[in-house]
Amino acid sequence: MKTIMGKVRQSMSSENIRILAIETSCDETAAAVVENGRKALSNVIASQIEIHRLYGGVVPELASRNHMEKMNQVITQALKDAHMTLADMDAVGVTYGPGLVGALLVGVAEAKAISYACGLPLVGVHHIEGHVSANYLEHPDLEPPFLCLIVSGGHTNLVIVEDYGRFRILGSTRDDAAGEAFDKVARAIGLRYPGGPEIDKLAREGNSQAISFPRARIEDAPYDFSFSGVKSSVLNYINQQKMQGLEIPRADLAASFQHSVVTALIERAMLAAEEFHIDRVALAGGVAANQGLRAAMGKACEKRNLKLYYPSPIYCTDNAAMIGVAAYYEYKKGVRHGWDLNAVPNLKLESV
Ligand code: KG4
Ligand code: ZN
Repeated sequence: MKTIMGKVRQSMSSENIRILAIETSCDETAAAVVENGRKALSNVIASQIEIHRLYGGVVPELASRNHMEKMNQVITQALKDAHMTLADMDAVGVTYGPGLVGALLVGVAEAKAISYACGLPLVGVHHIEGHVSANYLEHPDLEPPFLCLIVSGGHTNLVIVEDYGRFRILGSTRDDAAGEAFDKVARAIGLRYPGGPEIDKLAREGNSQAISFPRARIEDAPYDFSFSGVKSSVLNYINQQKMQGLEIPRADLAASFQHSVVTALIERAMLAAEEFHIDRVALAGGVAANQGLRAAMGKACEKRNLKLYYPSPIYCTDNAAMIGVAAYYEYKKGVRHGWDLNAVPNLKLESV
């Protein structure tokens, strides 16, 4: 049950609104304290990467169990780093979807318990709204409307952020998400999990023009993406090289693959900026940490006189500060969730 309250509860201690935010949708156990939706007073992340690396990807049950183990320590640290206690908080914000159900449940149950015990309002947050909101942390001048390219491990969307938490979805991926394609290609050339940052590093040593990989275009859907074609083409290339007993030029392959994905992302973003007369573009999600994407998008925007925003790498990949920002803007709108808040693994991003 989601309610919109007529009157927003104000902080008793000061005019500042402080939110304790919790994020457990995948393999990072994270908590943060965010002030007035723009300032991270703390941002604690217990990464499970080393655990899942052994298996080449996230093992859902291990993720849930590790969230369970780390959750309270991470929250305690986040409050400590912010030099605050639960008594200084005005609300609890938590990711309730999309993500792994067992992982989400740990965060949601924790947020409900704190909210109940401390009498704090509970605000459930859409994980992708969180990624977009990460941009507000370090760019005080950024306000909607703007164009946002969301590129994470599970999502690829091009949206117009019409207002805080209000999105007009222009395009989405038809198959793999951008981060998923990075991870699969990385795995095929023997790089460790998560593959995106590994490809990013290796690509810097390679020639992006060395191998030509296809870029899909979807009829009548100029803003939709498809990455399964380029992924298959990389896998075919690897097989052909192996069959001929040839070595795989890993750096050139990484650079060429990354170039193909980055170009597809930029083409659509630039087309949308032109069609919708938007002069501010933001990047969001784990793949927004990609150096190749940041640099090429920077050039494309500069050429067209567009202002480009992206979060620091630590706020691109999963973190709770971004959830605290999104929760703040939902809280300001009067959104409150009830005790029936549940994890919604396939929570959709609504389009206006
Ligand atoms: O946003 P995120 O942390 O989690 C999801 O919500 O999915 O994104 C994780 C994804 C992974 O696929 C990871 O490989 C990718 O982001 N990623 C990168 C980079 N850093 C993380 N991809 C390309 N280059 C990077 N530097
Ligand atoms: Zn994410």
